[in-house]
Amino acid sequence: MNKFEDDFILGTATAAYQIEGGVNEGGRMPSIWDTFSKKEENVFMGHTGDIACDHYHRVKEDVKILDNIGVDSYRFSISWSRIFPCKDEFNPEGVKFYKNLINELKDKKIAPAITLYHWDLPQWAQDLGGWENRDCIYWFEDYCTRIFEEFGQDVSMWITHNEPFCASILGNYLGMHAPGNKDLKKALIVAHHLLLSHGIVVRAFKKFKFENSKIGITLNLSPTYAVSMKKEDVIAAKISDGYNNRWFLDPLLKGHYPEDMVDLYEKEVGVLDFILEGDLNIISTDMDFLGINYYTRSIVEYDGHSQLKFRGVDGEKEKTAMGWENSPESMHDLLTRIKQEYTKLPLYITENGAAYDDVVTGDNKIHDIDRINFIKVHLKVIQEFIKEGGNLKGYYLWSFMDNFEWSYGYSKRFGMVYVNYNTQERIMKDSAIWYKKIIKARSLEV
Ligand code: FCB
Repeated sequence: MNKFEDDFILGTATAAYQIEGGVNEGGRMPSIWDTFSKKEENVFMGHTGDIACDHYHRVKEDVKILDNIGVDSYRFSISWSRIFPCKDEFNPEGVKFYKNLINELKDKKIAPAITLYHWDLPQWAQDLGGWENRDCIYWFEDYCTRIFEEFGQDVSMWITHNEPFCASILGNYLGMHAPGNKDLKKALIVAHHLLLSHGIVVRAFKKFKFENSKIGITLNLSPTYAVSMKKEDVIAAKISDGYNNRWFLDPLLKGHYPEDMVDLYEKEVGVLDFILEGDLNIISTDMDFLGINYYTRSIVEYDGHSQLKFRGVDGEKEKTAMGWENSPESMHDLLTRIKQEYTKLPLYITENGAAYDDVVTGDNKIHDIDRINFIKVHLKVIQEFIKEGGNLKGYYLWSFMDNFEWSYGYSKRFGMVYVNYNTQERIMKDSAIWYKKIIKARSLEV
C-alpha cells in the first residue's frame, strides 16, 4: 500500500484578501485589491473582499474546522496593510490578529506556513509607484523583517511571494488583476522587482538563524505543449513556456534570465535596463525549497496577431468550472522537468485544487465527487513522483474554504469547506470528509 511518509505535509491553503474581510478593522488600510475590486467591471458582479468569509472575526471557528479535518499544516498569507497601514506606520493590532491565529494553530498542532505576499500591496505603496518603484523592494524587506521578528520562531515555513507571474503579468500586462495596468514593460519591471525582493528577503531571513524554519518562493507553473508539430506552433509553445515558467524559474534557480525571452522582450519594450549588475546574484540566493502551484497544463498555437505570437488552445480533457483541464499527467511532466532541469531542492505543491459548481442538498450536504476525484488523481501523481525518487515534501489543497476568487469574485468555489455567503455558515463538503480520512490513514486507499 502506498503510504504518505509521516513527515509528508498534507495541508491546505488560503490567502488574506480572499477570506479575511474586516477590511476597515484593526487599523487596516486599503490594499490595491480593495481599490481594484471597487472599480467598475474589474470583478464579476462588482464583488469585493470587504466581508469575504469574515475570517477576521471567525479565526477560532475556522481553526477548529482545520483541526477537525486534521491537516498537518495551514498555509495563509499576511495582509501587509494590516501590519503597515501607512508608510512607516507599524500597527501592533495587525500583528495581534496573526499572533492569535498562529497560537490557535499551534494549540491544535497545525504547522503555520506563511505567505508574505499574496498580491495585496498596500495602496500607499502603489501610490508611490508600487512594484515598479525599486524602493518597494526595501519597503517589503522592512515589512518582512518585522514579521520575522514577531513570528519567526513559531513558523516552520515561509513563502516570500505567491505566483510572481500573476502579480506582474496578470496585474500589469493583461490588466486582469490589481493594479490593472496593460503594459508589458511595466509588467517586466514588476516581475524583476518581485524576484529581487524575494532574494533580499531570503538574505534578511537567514540572518535570524531560526531553527526549524525554512524559506522559499511559490511559482505557478504550467507545462506547455504545442498544439501540433508545425514549426510555428512549436516556437509558440517555447515562447509561452518562457513567458509563464522559464522567466521565473531561470533567474531563481540558474541565476540568469532565458536569453531567447530577453531577446523577444527587448524587441518589444527596448533594453531591459532595470536589471542592474548584481541583481541576478541576489535573486538566485540559495533558498530552502521551491513551492509550486499546479492547476492545469497549457496548449498553445502560433498567433500572428498577438504581441508575443502565441495563444492558448482549448484541450480535450474534462474541465473544471474554471474551464481548466484536469490533467494530472502534466503535473508529472512538470515535476520531472523541475527535478531534471532545475533543482534538487525539496518541492512542495503549495496549491492544487479545483472549482466546481457545488450544489447543497436538502440535508445540507455537498457531494463534490468531482473534486474528490481531482484531488485523488493529483495525489496519486505525487506518490508516483516520490517513488521515482522525487524530492516532494508536501501538498496544500486549494482551498480550505470557498472564497473571493479574484476577478471571478464569489462565483467560483474551490473550497473543501462550503461557505454560505449570506449567513457565513461553513459546511464540510464530502471532499473535506474524504481528505480527513486520507490524512488519518496517510494513504489514498480509504
Ligand atoms: C492561484 C492563486 C490563489 C487562487 C487559485 C485558484 O493562482 O494563488 O489565490 O486564486 O489560483
